[in-house]
Amino acid sequence: MSYEVKNEQLKAWVAEVEAMCEPANIHWCDGSQEEYDRLCGQMVESGTFRKLNPEKRPNSYLAFSDPIDVARVEDRTFICSLNKQDAGPTNNWVAPKEMKETLKGLFKGCMKGRTMYVIPFSMGPLGSNIAKIGVEITDSPYVVVNMRIMTRMGKQVLDVLGNGEFVPCLHSVGMPLAEGQKDVAWPCNKEKYIVHFPEERAIWSFGSGYGGNALLGKKCLALRIASVQARDEGWLAEHMLILGVESPTGEKSYVGAAFPSACGKTNFAMLIPPKPFQDKGWKVTTIGDDIAWIKPGADGQVYAINPEYGYFGVAPGTNYKTNPNAMISCEKNSIFTNVALTEDGDVWWEGMDGEVPAKLTDWQGNAWTPDCGRPAAHPNARFTAPASQCPCIDPEWENPKGVPMSAFIFGGRRKDTVPLVYQAFNWNYGVYLASTLGSETTAAAVGATGNVRRDPFAMLPFCGYHMADYFAHWLQFGRSIARPPRIFSVNWFRKDANGKFIWPGYGENMRVLKWIAERVQGKTGSVECPLGWMPRYEDMDWEGIEMSREKFNELMSVDRDVWQNEVISHEELFVKMYDKLPKEFLHIRELILSSLWRSPEHWEQIGEVHPEGWNE
Ligand code: GTP
Ligand code: SPV
Ligand code: MN
Repeated sequence: MSYEVKNEQLKAWVAEVEAMCEPANIHWCDGSQEEYDRLCGQMVESGTFRKLNPEKRPNSYLAFSDPIDVARVEDRTFICSLNKQDAGPTNNWVAPKEMKETLKGLFKGCMKGRTMYVIPFSMGPLGSNIAKIGVEITDSPYVVVNMRIMTRMGKQVLDVLGNGEFVPCLHSVGMPLAEGQKDVAWPCNKEKYIVHFPEERAIWSFGSGYGGNALLGKKCLALRIASVQARDEGWLAEHMLILGVESPTGEKSYVGAAFPSACGKTNFAMLIPPKPFQDKGWKVTTIGDDIAWIKPGADGQVYAINPEYGYFGVAPGTNYKTNPNAMISCEKNSIFTNVALTEDGDVWWEGMDGEVPAKLTDWQGNAWTPDCGRPAAHPNARFTAPASQCPCIDPEWENPKGVPMSAFIFGGRRKDTVPLVYQAFNWNYGVYLASTLGSETTAAAVGATGNVRRDPFAMLPFCGYHMADYFAHWLQFGRSIARPPRIFSVNWFRKDANGKFIWPGYGENMRVLKWIAERVQGKTGSVECPLGWMPRYEDMDWEGIEMSREKFNELMSVDRDVWQNEVISHEELFVKMYDKLPKEFLHIRELILSSLWRSPEHWEQIGEVHPEGWNE
């Protein structure tokens, strides 16, 4: 042991895991730079890492994963609550006893020939009363170095833990090494299990070394287990970015936004306002880009913290025009996974600035040329970068009290149907719109992409209990706070008849954010529409962009026939959870249908409604 451990429960658990997994040795991580450098060096030796050119990308590494291990595996993710009913219809469930038996079989001797690392980590600022401590045991040095960027990790966490409670997080790549057997660059197992025991507050993950499957502080602890704790204790654990938006008069509002995986949270969290907005004095700062823990304060407001310490961001599509702050965040001290390697030892991915290189090594380690017909980077390729390197990080980002929230935004990837932005009439209505959020599937999870599915609150893959109980918890949370944040819907991804995005997105999303900030501050107008309150053309700031009324109307249009079908597809989700569905939802659905039937002459005249229409 490289340092003394006092926590008896921890010592006992580590001994138990050692006896089961039979590692060659144990290393207790201290979190030091020296340890990080040593493990990275070791991974360069073993072929897991390539060191990038220190002149182009100082202190940074690239890993290529096994092609069978590139994203979260939702069909192999389980919520093993004591009662099946508590996991609900949207989670995979196996009885905990039975699952433990299966897992014990798999974990038996699974670390043979490998080092077992013990990683104490804190989600949230060290020592803060909001933070939660976890300990991950893993046989993957890749996990150790990523956890050091993504969480506050190391010996100091055990000092804070003392004899207190921690969430045990057990992880193995599931590939024991026989005597003298040579390791592969990316060990993993084709059989994968990402398992949560909510009552026990424990996590067991087997067979994958990638992202959300293996960095157990992130989706497993900070969302699936934390959502259960949040339900029990009266707070919220959400798949949300948190940003600060400051107006020219110095009023600052904090906003949380939940978009499904690979639907724009990192980009929105770090957005740079268009030039005319900057000139007027608008500023945007980042608290977090993926996860928010939200608690009611004594003053009737709600406060949010980012429990993470780094970004595990989508690389493709990220460049110095779309997201300069992310590009700067990963200029050094970063880890890249499944992006391509340039001839001069730097990284490249689809959508990066500049010319497409003539020759690359693709994410599978093969020679790549622009005409070879394959993407150079995997669509779910990612960078792991320290949050402290983000140029627009908010000064309050480590404040253990969190920041007061003014608005929650929900958005999906919808090529049609959903308008650019609207505001829910009230909290309950907003909970309904978030519960019925739909989005086209992305490469962040294994499976087909581009199919619309319901992804309530962008939490479908991350809610650790019955989704309908989660809806009810949100309704109850709203009733328990004096000043609930306002709720909005956005959609950056609407396409025209030629399949082109109508909305320019990225920094231009500032125009929508400004309207939202001004709505919250009671400073701008809107018009009532069947779904909620919408900005009129004149309520939006169009300085510095060509935006015709016609194009705006296209972005904002709400087609009655299309929305009737949309409401029917809400039902497809709801019938699955009928026994627990909040009764409020039936009434809200009726209200939406009723408003869609308003002004029939008008609908018939133009076949759709848009803000200008309702004003006539
Ligand atoms: P996770 O880390 O998986 O939870 O994803 P995320 O929500 O943080 O997604 P991210 O911001 O990384 O964006 C994913 C992809 O969407 C990237 O390829 C972006 O370039 C693209 N994207 C982000 N914002 C916009 C936008 O406003 N418009 C368009 N068209 N694309 C966007
Ligand atoms: C997501 O899929 O929502 C991510 C990446 O943020 S992962 O950490 O793999 O879950
Ligand atoms: Mn995410």
